[in-house]
Amino acid sequence: MAEGPDPGFGGVFAGRRVLVTGHTGFKGGWLCLWLQQLGARVTGLALAPEPGPSFFAACGLEQALDSRIADIRDPGALAAALAGADAEVLFHLAAQPLVRRSYQAPAATFETNAGGTAHVLDAALRMPSLQAAVVVSSDKCYENREWDWGYRESDPLGGHDPYSASKACTELVAGAYRNAFFAAPDGPQLATARAGNVFGGGDWGAERLVPDLARAAAADQPLQIRRPQAVRPWQHVLEPLSGYLALAARLLGPGGAEFAGAWNFGPPLAGTVTVRELTALLSAAWGPGAPQVDFSPAEDGPHEAGLLRLDSTRARLRLGWQPQLALPEAAAMTAQWYRAFQDGGTGMAALSRAQISRYGSLMAAGADSPEGAAADRTETWRQPAAQ
Ligand SMILES: NC(=O)c1ccc[n+]([C@@H]2O[C@H](COP(=O)([O-])OP(=O)(O)OC[C@H]3O[C@@H](n4cnc5c(N)ncnc54)[C@H](O)[C@@H]3O)[C@@H](O)[C@H]2O)c1
Repeated sequence: MAEGPDPGFGGVFAGRRVLVTGHTGFKGGWLCLWLQQLGARVTGLALAPEPGPSFFAACGLEQALDSRIADIRDPGALAAALAGADAEVLFHLAAQPLVRRSYQAPAATFETNAGGTAHVLDAALRMPSLQAAVVVSSDKCYENREWDWGYRESDPLGGHDPYSASKACTELVAGAYRNAFFAAPDGPQLATARAGNVFGGGDWGAERLVPDLARAAAADQPLQIRRPQAVRPWQHVLEPLSGYLALAARLLGPGGAEFAGAWNFGPPLAGTVTVRELTALLSAAWGPGAPQVDFSPAEDGPHEAGLLRLDSTRARLRLGWQPQLALPEAAAMTAQWYRAFQDGGTGMAALSRAQISRYGSLMAAGADSPEGAAADRTETWRQPAAQ
C-alpha cells in the first residue's frame, strides 16, 4: 500500500502556540481538538456558543483550552481578549457562515467576514512570534457560472448572495494583507483555504442538512428538505481540516513562502452529489431512528447556487493532501457521533478524539482510493468507538 501523508504533520505543531478563531463553532471546535492531539497549546477566540447544543459544550472545550470570547467586529474588544496571546500559528475560522442568514443580515455578514478578517489580521500582525496564518474562506467565494467543471484557485472571485460575496471579500482582504504585510520570504506567511460543504458530528448550524436531520431525529419529527437537486461538494469535517493543517505545516517549514496563496480542499468527484443523495446515505447510516424525509417539490427561498464543484489538484500535487473518506463512510462517522450524543452525550470528546485518531491512521495508510477503501470500512463506524 502506498505511504500516505504524515498524520502528525511532521510534528510541527507539538508545543506550538496556536490561535484558532471560531473555536466555539463546528469546524473550529474539531480543529482545536485535533491540534491538542498534535501537542499544540491552543487559544480560541470567538463569540460565546449559540444557545442549545454545540460541539464546544459537548466536548468540554471551555475547560480543555484557553477560551476567549470577543466579537471580531470590535477591534478594541478583540485586542483586549487577545492580550498576552502571542501565537505562532493562526487559523482564522470565525465567520457568519450561513447563506440564508446573510439574506437576513447582509451588512452584519460583511462586517464579520470582511471587516472581522481585517481586524483579526491586524491583531495577528501585532504578535511578534507569528509565523503562519491560514484564513478560511469558502467554495462559495468563486463567481458561480453553474458549470460542470470544478473551480480552480485562479478562477475569478464573485458571489451572488451576501454570504458568498462576503467570502470573496475575505479572500480579497487576506490577499491585500499578504501583499502588504506578509510578503517577506523570511517573515510570517499567509494562505487562504477554500473547502466544500462540510458535515460531521457536532454541527448544529441553522438550516444545514445534517444538523436538520439530527434535530428531526432527536425530536422524532419528519424532515422537510429544500433543494433536493442542488449539487454540493460534500465532505467530512476532518477532510478540509487535514488540508488546513498540512498547509500550515508547509507555511511553517523551509520555503514556506512558496505555499502562501489560495488553496482548494474539496472532495473527489464522487463526493459531489445532490442533497437527495447525501440524505439517503445519512438515513441509511442512521439506521433505526432516522427521521422520515419529505423533499420539497419546488425551489423555495432566496437564490443559492445550484451547482458547485471544487478542483483540488493543486493541494494534491503540492501539499500531498488527499481526501480519505468516501461519502458512505463519512455519513457513518457522522451518524455514530450524533447517535452517541442522543444516547446521553457522555464521552463526546473521547469519541471525537477516537474519530480523529482513526482518520490519522487512514492518512498514514494512504488510502488513495477513497471510494473503494471506504466500502469495506463503513461497518466499523456502527460500533461504539474505542475510548
Ligand atoms: N460548514 C461548512 O460547510 C463550511 C463550508 C465552507 C466554509 N466554511 C467556513 O468555515 C468556517 C467555520 O464554519 P462553521 O461551519 O464551523 O461555522 P459555525 O457557525 O459552526 O462557527 C462559526 C464560529 O465563528 C464565530 N463567530 C461568528 N461571528 C463572530 C464574530 N462576530 N466575532 C467572533 N466570532 C464570531 C462563532 O462564535 C463560531 O465560533 C467559516 O469561516 C465558514 O465560512 C464552512
